[in-house]
Amino acid sequence: MIPIFRPCFDEAEVEAVREVLLSGWVGPGQKVEELETRFAQYVGAKHAVSVNSCSAALLLALKTLNVAGGEVITTSMTFVSTNHAILQNGATPVFCDIDPETLNIDPKAIETRITPRTRAIMVVHFAGHPCDMDAILAIANSRGIPVVEDAAHASGARYKDHIIGGVGTVTCFSFDARKNLSTCDGGMLTTNDADLAAHACKLRWLGISRGTYDRFRKNGTERRWEYEVGELSSKCYMNDLNAAIGLVQLGKLESANAQRREIFLHYKRAFDALDWLQTPTEQADVRSAMHAYVARTPQRDGLIDHLAQRGIDAGVHYKPCHLFDVYRPYRTALPVTDSVWPHLITLPMFPSMTGGEIEQVVDAVRDFNP
Ligand SMILES: Cc1ncc(COP(=O)(O)O)c(C=O)c1O
Repeated sequence: MIPIFRPCFDEAEVEAVREVLLSGWVGPGQKVEELETRFAQYVGAKHAVSVNSCSAALLLALKTLNVAGGEVITTSMTFVSTNHAILQNGATPVFCDIDPETLNIDPKAIETRITPRTRAIMVVHFAGHPCDMDAILAIANSRGIPVVEDAAHASGARYKDHIIGGVGTVTCFSFDARKNLSTCDGGMLTTNDADLAAHACKLRWLGISRGTYDRFRKNGTERRWEYEVGELSSKCYMNDLNAAIGLVQLGKLESANAQRREIFLHYKRAFDALDWLQTPTEQADVRSAMHAYVARTPQRDGLIDHLAQRGIDAGVHYKPCHLFDVYRPYRTALPVTDSVWPHLITLPMFPSMTGGEIEQVVDAVRDFNP
């Protein structure tokens, strides 16, 4: 089967892991600090706090913003992690409809959902295509509401001249196995707010005030074993093995995203003549990270079956969250989301796709009889 996503590692990542394994320190240490420093510089944010997943980054981001008991405006067109973070923080998800073209949250709809209880606005850069951040930040900033960006798909994406990660209040990245930058599993939170970053650093390790590496490097004034625990939290830090992989992957990110773009453009040329398939687009003022190739067709399920018979995997991103039982109490009218999602189909797109694999997908799609 040609998969939808395939992780792209080579000897460089293997060597980086080997070096850490033999170094005598595999917990959070020098590699984690280096990845945080380099990632923050790359996206243009003052602080980067690494964690073991984007799910954890989202959870911590909302905790630092103290959303408990309030409402968080969000999208249903996302993976459940985005909205689980709201419920797990004791807040109410307020679903907002999406832009029919980009499938990103619709800023005009956000405005209609704001109430005195709104504590944050959560936006997702769907498939790596940045949201309309100027419009979203204008609405949020005029009311003093923080914006959390779920950039799980958007490592390396640009909004106007800015790399995603240095734009909103706090941005959360995923480095899981399928993502543009992968550490196998991992995540990153970026922000320009020093207090928020310091709080997230404590929250990622059980609320403990100073990490082990930090304490062991100190010599002199403070006792190495001493720390404070001010609040409860779980353990979700990144270790040096994952960070070492991340450093190699960060160095490859721009070229890997360029390879994704080439496949995107190839598909566009091949599929634009098919009147039964709507290909994804990119708006003029952004540069998508090209995380996923999400096309649309009324014959979605038939096409998935046809591709499977030809040895090609295809997926659905996403069945909207409000259709899952756990989100039933928060259902509301989402006409665009409801009408669009039954047509969505994700085709294979990843940097190590061979020319032969790309042609196999193109031929199989073209051979489909809708
Ligand atoms: C939009 C979105 N948000 C959050 C996540 C969670 O990322 P992680 O697997 O790193 O927790 C994902 C994962 O696929 C995602 O697609």
